[in-house]
Formats: sequence, structure tokens, C-alpha cells
Amino acid sequence: MKVTLSVIKADVGGYVGHSESHPDILAEAGKMLARAKKEGLLLDCQTAKCGDDLQLIMTHQKGTGNYDIHKLAWDTFVAGTKVAKKLKLYGAGQDLLADAFAGNVRGMGPGVAEMEFEERPAEPVIILMADKTSAGAWNMPLYKMFADPFNTIGLVIAANMHGGYTFEVHDVKEHKKIRFNAPEEIYDMLVFIGAPSRFAVKSVYHRDTGEIAAVSSTERLSLIAGKYVGKDDPVCIVRCQGIFPAVGEVLEPFAAPILVEGWMRGSHMGPLMPVSQADSTPSRFDGPPRLVGLGFQLANGMLVGPRDMLADKAFNLARHQANEMADMMRRHGPFEPHRLPLEEMEYTTMPQVMEKLKGRFQDLER
Ligand code: 13P
Ligand code: 13P
Ligand code: MG
Ligand code: MG
Repeated sequence: MKVTLSVIKADVGGYVGHSESHPDILAEAGKMLARAKKEGLLLDCQTAKCGDDLQLIMTHQKGTGNYDIHKLAWDTFVAGTKVAKKLKLYGAGQDLLADAFAGNVRGMGPGVAEMEFEERPAEPVIILMADKTSAGAWNMPLYKMFADPFNTIGLVIAANMHGGYTFEVHDVKEHKKIRFNAPEEIYDMLVFIGAPSRFAVKSVYHRDTGEIAAVSSTERLSLIAGKYVGKDDPVCIVRCQGIFPAVGEVLEPFAAPILVEGWMRGSHMGPLMPVSQADSTPSRFDGPPRLVGLGFQLANGMLVGPRDMLADKAFNLARHQANEMADMMRRHGPFEPHRLPLEEMEYTTMPQVMEKLKGRFQDLER
């Protein structure tokens, strides 16, 4: 049967500060989704949190970008905002940038990752959710999963993966997209995806069959609103096994933490630390950035799970390394490369300071 898996997320209020989503928000969202399931709109649903982000995980048969599904998500975020306002949580309704729903939550603030596929006899999926970072954070992990044989041995030894994968890459500033075929175009592709503040891998396809393998959210709140309103805190869905990387190949990139942008005030680089859902509580300097990976087996659209994949002790060393990287970055205080380059800064005083001092800047003698 054909199933659509939609993951739609938003920060509708933080508890405390930007460190977590409140249990009452999750409970309210759970109630709204359960009602939609009872009414037949959803096949199944779950809520989750990653840091201060509320995640709606929904299966249905309406396809991607569906009005009713997006409206349900929007209404759920509005209901969550109501709870957040009552509790005076921090930044209630932070990611809801429009006053009213306009057909699709894309461009309205929430992050969206959706895919429709024919459910296989066994359909393992991993939902990756990150807080205090942005869409480009998936670039290197997705590259490793689907194009790097040092990560994914299946690319070499599994006949049904040997043909490679196609990456759709979005230029989030110019609103353009391009497709690259791996492995033969990886050098061209890396020119772009190695600059994750501008280019983000949107989706990945299995070349021999055209089957969708992965999809990420690439909304950039800062660009949508034209001013800082919160980081993207992206999500990504990855199908596993068979013609796709094994579950362990999908999770392996996170054993070696990398630096991503989005820590403290959305203006700092920091390590992406893999954690359990319970440990997605970014409290040190509002971070460091967190990653949660929930695993499910789909059964006729039912979400069998979650398994909290990154809770595994095998990621202890990665967590330790991420904390050491965090120390190393914090040592730089307000200096780059901990602080982002000026054009990437989310909360910047630069224009005001420049304005104030403009009369004092003199030309250098030649
Ligand atoms: P099992 O033999 O435990 O099914 O594992 C198969 C495998 O190759 C996992 O990577
Ligand atoms: P969120 O985008 O997760 O709300 O974090 C905002 C921030 O910059 C915290 O320092
Ligand atoms: Mg927040
Ligand atoms: Mg967040």
C-alpha cells in the first residue's frame, strides 16, 4: 500500500528558555493528532520533542503537501501555542510566522519533511531531528550515508546499491534546485553541499528504481521572515535496509560529531551531539546542538516504535567528543569561528553599531 510519512515540527514555546518543549504541549498535540486518527485523516501518529521543538510524526494516504494534513499540523501548533501562553513559556508561538493558515505550512515557519512510497514487506525508517542547528546540518551525514563507502559498505558490496543515489540540492538563498548523481558527480556536488549555510540536501533517490530514500526540511526561518525568528532546527526522514543503507549505516555518521551552525542565539558554531530523546535538553550555552534519531518499522502505516536509536551506549564516545569540541569552541567566546561570520549572524547588532560609528571610519592611507 502507498503511505505518506509526514514529519512537521515547530517551536511553539520553550521550557525553560529554549531548552525543552513542555510535557503539556506534547500532551495537547497528542490529543489533537489522536482525534484526527479517530476521524480517519491519519493512519497513525506520534508526538516527540527534540529540545524545544515539537515534532508531529504522522502517517496517512493523502500524499505530500496535503491541505488537510498541513492544516491539522498548523492547528496543532496553534493549540500548543495556547498552552505555551497559559504557562508563559518562552517564545510562545515562536515559529508560527503567519496569522492564519494559508493552504500549506511551508514558508509559514514550521519545518516539513514528507515522503510518499509503496510500503515494503519490512519498512524501517529513521527520523532524525535536530535542535539548535539548521537545514545544512544534514549535508555531510547524508553524503556519508549515500555516497561514502567508508561509511556505507553497502555501496560497494550490495548489488542493489552499487548503482548509486541522486541528490537533490537546494540553494536556500536563491531558491533554486539542482540534482547530482553519485558517485560520478560527487566532486561537483561537494563544491556546493560543503557550504551548508547556503546549499542543503533536500532529498535523495535510489538511481536504479527512482525510489525516494531520504528527505529533509530545508525551510530557513531567517530568510522567510527576513529577520531572526528562530533557527530551522531541521528534521530528516531516511528509509533503511534493502536498496537503502542499513540502519547502522544511516546512524554511523553521527559517531563522529561535526560542527554545525545554530548554537546560542542562532549565531554560533558547535558540535552536533547525538543523544536520546530524554537527553535533548540543550542547557549549556543553550546547547550544544542536539540530534535525536527515532526508529520505526511501518506496518500498513502503523508506526511500530519508536526505538530511541541514539540512546545506544555506542554513541557515548561521540557524546564525550562533542562535549570536548564544545569546550574548544567556547574558548573563542565572541570570536569566529565559534561566532558565525557576520552575514550568517542571526541576532546582529552590526547594522546599529555601524550606523553609530559611521562618521568615525576613515579611509586608510594608500
Ligand atoms: P542479521 O544477520 O543480524 O540480520 O544482520 C544482517 C546485517 O548484515 C546487518 O548489517
Ligand atoms: P531555538 O531556535 O531552538 O528556539 O533556539 C534559539 C536560540 O538561539 C537559543 O539560544
Ligand atoms: Mg526556542
Ligand atoms: Mg529549537
